[in-house]
Amino acid sequence: MSLFNVYPLYDVTPTRAQDVYVCDDNGTKYLDLYGGHAVISIGHSHPDYVSAITEQVEKLGFYSNSVKNPIQLELAEKLGSLSGCNDYQLFMCNSGAEANENALKLASFHTGKSKILAFKNSFHGRTSAAVAATDNSKIVAPINAQQVVDFVDLGDLEAVESILKKDRTCSVIIECIQGVGGLDQSCSEFYQGLEALCKAYNTVLIADEVQSGFGRTGDFFAFQKHNISPDIISIAKGMGNGFPVGGILINPTIEASYGLLGTTFGGNHLACVATLAVLEVLKNENLMQNASEMSQYILEKAKDLPKLKTVKGRGLMIGLEFDFPVSEMRKQLIFKHHIFTGSAKNPNLIRILPPLTVQKPHIDTLFNALITELRTHE
Ligand SMILES: Cc1ncc(COP(=O)(O)O)c(C=O)c1O
Repeated sequence: MSLFNVYPLYDVTPTRAQDVYVCDDNGTKYLDLYGGHAVISIGHSHPDYVSAITEQVEKLGFYSNSVKNPIQLELAEKLGSLSGCNDYQLFMCNSGAEANENALKLASFHTGKSKILAFKNSFHGRTSAAVAATDNSKIVAPINAQQVVDFVDLGDLEAVESILKKDRTCSVIIECIQGVGGLDQSCSEFYQGLEALCKAYNTVLIADEVQSGFGRTGDFFAFQKHNISPDIISIAKGMGNGFPVGGILINPTIEASYGLLGTTFGGNHLACVATLAVLEVLKNENLMQNASEMSQYILEKAKDLPKLKTVKGRGLMIGLEFDFPVSEMRKQLIFKHHIFTGSAKNPNLIRILPPLTVQKPHIDTLFNALITELRTHE
């Protein structure tokens, strides 16, 4: 059987990884400033993470959600306290798209309405309602058109209000920092205004923290910088440090009832211990503080970089925007300098999404490589 060929692949085959480094089958070591698409939060193969999963699988790898699972309760408790979202309720699933799918569905149940409001350049996943709320017509199939979505410019509160006042919109879904779209963000007044409009028009505010959550921005969640309280927060990626896990945090104003949401694999024992290990390491190793400090260091280094137009994003979710398309330079970074970075919808932008354990010497390595490449580019 062949693989369904949907991914253009780089000719690299990773076989091992440790902290911020990935090793391929030829023994070449790569500096991972991409984190497998913002997934690696506490570093590859962190010993506490490895032993937590190993010990759990020896005891019990899986049982369904029809019996008690005290590890889910422990996780809800620790996630609430580290994130500062103690009042919220936790529902677990398996991926970012699934988290948003559940968030959108719950918003529709809660309000009895069916339209979605999303923002231009958004990315929320590839499943039904999540992909409909994603601003990329290439990945939206005709079957997804059953979801009616209004797309509005990020920052345009007037446009938001003109739609919400028609009283047909169940939810507004937003990435406070757009990931795939290219690290754009708006100001606190906008996010606070959005929260107020959602309240005024009985619309559920969903913060998609799939990429920006779990400490990546230096705060536990990106929305926290703006002092808002979304009704639902969707999480995945950094949550499991590579273990497939996602979830939604649900404000207490939204009530649960049996059967409202459900999943076979979501919240299984392995996913829970993986996430618990991530939370412990985030806290014990002060990784959110490290994310802020390393971000500051990147900003300082970027000041001296030629041909750089601007720096976007926050924390360790940074976009370096140049005045030329960067795909060739990213190839040189991988094959000549052995550094993984990320792309974005914006062809001139390199995305830096390293493990939150990254240190100054790693960042120096990136900037030295960039300076070499920018010289040859002249
Ligand atoms: C903000 C955001 N939401 C949702 C998703 C979808 O997550 P997944 O690929 O786990 O379904 C992504 C993936 O890149 C994302 O960046």
